Amino acid sequence: MNTTISSVIDRHRRRLGDRLAILAHHYQHDDIVRHADHVGDSLELSRKIADLTAEYIVFCGVFFMAETAAILAAPGQKVLIPDAKAACVMSDMAPHELVAVISRNLRSTGRTVVPLTYVNSSARVKAVCGRLGGSVCTSANADTMLAWALGQGDGVLFLPDRMLGANTCDRLGIPPEKRHILDIRRHGALIDHQAAAAADVLLWPGRCVIHDKFTAERIRAVRLEHPGALVAVHPECPPETVAAADAAGSTSFLIRYVENAPKGATIFIGTEENLVLRLAQRHAGEKTILPLRTSRCSNMAKITEEKLAAQLADIESQQPVAVPDEVREPAKTAVTRMLDVCA
Ligand code: 13P
Ligand code: SF4
Repeated sequence: MNTTISSVIDRHRRRLGDRLAILAHHYQHDDIVRHADHVGDSLELSRKIADLTAEYIVFCGVFFMAETAAILAAPGQKVLIPDAKAACVMSDMAPHELVAVISRNLRSTGRTVVPLTYVNSSARVKAVCGRLGGSVCTSANADTMLAWALGQGDGVLFLPDRMLGANTCDRLGIPPEKRHILDIRRHGALIDHQAAAAADVLLWPGRCVIHDKFTAERIRAVRLEHPGALVAVHPECPPETVAAADAAGSTSFLIRYVENAPKGATIFIGTEENLVLRLAQRHAGEKTILPLRTSRCSNMAKITEEKLAAQLADIESQQPVAVPDEVREPAKTAVTRMLDVCA
């Protein structure tokens, strides 16, 4: 922590008072989390927006999170992010033009394929889902939302995270022969219509490069080295990893899992390490919390105390996250469907 910058942030927070709300995702560094009014997973932070009356909402996370807040913000509220270049690599794997073309192609056979996007996607992708009767999910409600989407048509296009999609199919008992991973190339998609027609769930081939690195082999090695240790991972990890772990769930689930574990437990956590290190500190002396392997989301790390301080110092002239009306309306429809289904 840089005490000078920290006190500058405190001063701006006092100056702005109720006009400011700072939100932070669990993957933010402690230097940021200590300044946040609300810390949560993607679902909790989306739900929080409706309760906020602040004129300025500063979102410390990656860009799609700030964009989701901007979709849900009330007229007149301004959503800001200390570094707009904090992108989510997985979100970037589903360009909206391609999602629109593929959604249309999948429907060209007369089949109603409902698009369901993980919240880790752009506002324009959410808008495609909203226009086509689809919705959004987070890692905390993917089971509920996939079950909902399956009830809305003849099949579901789940995007962009192939791993969360497959893990959710596993949880719902949708067998591998009822899933099909789309072959998406840089300039388009090769749709194997026969394979697609046989599947209930079509999976976009995106993934999180950070969670991809947690392997089932590593879990087996940990169990040999630390007999009796528990392992909990995020569902963005590959299905083999999830199958080898004791539990899988959203960042808030992982926090609760550690809280509920018995005293003296050793728990390896497979997710971004800022959260794991915070849990290790919080439970030091009671439980041993260790990262399954080192793994840092470099985009989450783009939000620093220095950038937060600079944004707050000049907040009145900062450019808020902008979502054009023609995108915001259908994107809001998609997100609101999720909030209603999971109310
Ligand atoms: P949560 O919704 O579980 O907080 O996860 C968001 C994310 O980006 C995980 O990589
Ligand atoms: Fe995106 Fe992965 Fe970073 Fe989460 S951890 S924000 S999915 S790149």
